[in-house]
Amino acid sequence: MTSPADAFCLALDVPDVASAEAWVRRAHQRIGTFKVGLQLFCAEGPDVVRRLRAAGARCIFLDLKLHDIPNTVGSTVRALSHLGVDLLTIHTAGGTEMMRAALAESGPTRLLGVTVLTSLDAAALAEIGDASNPALQVDRRAAAAVQTGLTGLVCSAAEVARVRALVGPDVALVTPGIRLADAAGDDQKRVATPGRARREGATLLVVGRPVLAATDWAAALTRLEDDWRGGDDGHGAD
Ligand code: C5P
Repeated sequence: MTSPADAFCLALDVPDVASAEAWVRRAHQRIGTFKVGLQLFCAEGPDVVRRLRAAGARCIFLDLKLHDIPNTVGSTVRALSHLGVDLLTIHTAGGTEMMRAALAESGPTRLLGVTVLTSLDAAALAEIGDASNPALQVDRRAAAAVQTGLTGLVCSAAEVARVRALVGPDVALVTPGIRLADAAGDDQKRVATPGRARREGATLLVVGRPVLAATDWAAALTRLEDDWRGGDDGHGAD
C-alpha cells in the first residue's frame, strides 16, 4: 500500500523561494512531493529546484504546462530534466508530435499530461473555436496522451473516476481540489475528499491551502491523511 507521504503533494503556492524552502523543511518527513508553479519558477528561476532539493524535497513537481512546437518543448524538457525535476506537466493540446518530442528528451523526469484547463467550460471552449464539450475533450486528450506513451495525467476531482476507467490501472492520476468534507472550497469548484479521490483512482493528491493556510498545518495534514486511509477499499489504483 502506498504511504501518505507518497500520496500527497504540497503545492508551494508561496511568493518566494525562502517561504517555499521553509515549507519543505517543515513538511518533508510527511510529504514526498512538492509542486512548484509557474509563478514561483518565473520569480525565482531554475535555482529554486536545487534549493528545494537541498531543503529535503524527495520529489519535485514542476507545473509549467509546456505547450509549444515539438522542437522547443523537447529542448525545454531536456533542460528541466538536467536540472533534476522529477515530475513535469506538458499540455496535451500541443498534439502527439509535441508529446513524443517531450518524451524523447525526458530522461528520468516523468511527464504528466494536462488535458483541458478546468477554467474552460463549454462556452469558453466554443469561444476559441472548439465545439466539443469539455468532458469529451478530456477523454480524447487523455487517450491520445496515453497512446503516445505518457504515464501520467492531471485530472480534476470531477473527472478522475471517468479518466481512470478510460486509461486503466497503470497510469498515474494527479488530482488537485482536495478538501475535507467540512472545509470551505475556496475558489475550487470541483472538490473531493482525499478518501473519495483515492477510491476513484487518484494516485497523487495535490493540496495547497488546506495545509498552507491552516492554523495548525500538522494537524490539518493528519486529518487529510486519515481521510485518505479511509479511502482504501482494497481495490485502489495504488
Ligand atoms: O490551494 P489548493 O489546494 O486549491 O491548491 C491546488 C493547487 O493545484 C494549486 O497549485 C493550483 O494551481 C493547482 N490546480 C488546481 N486546479 C486545477 C489544476 C491545478 O487547483 N485544475
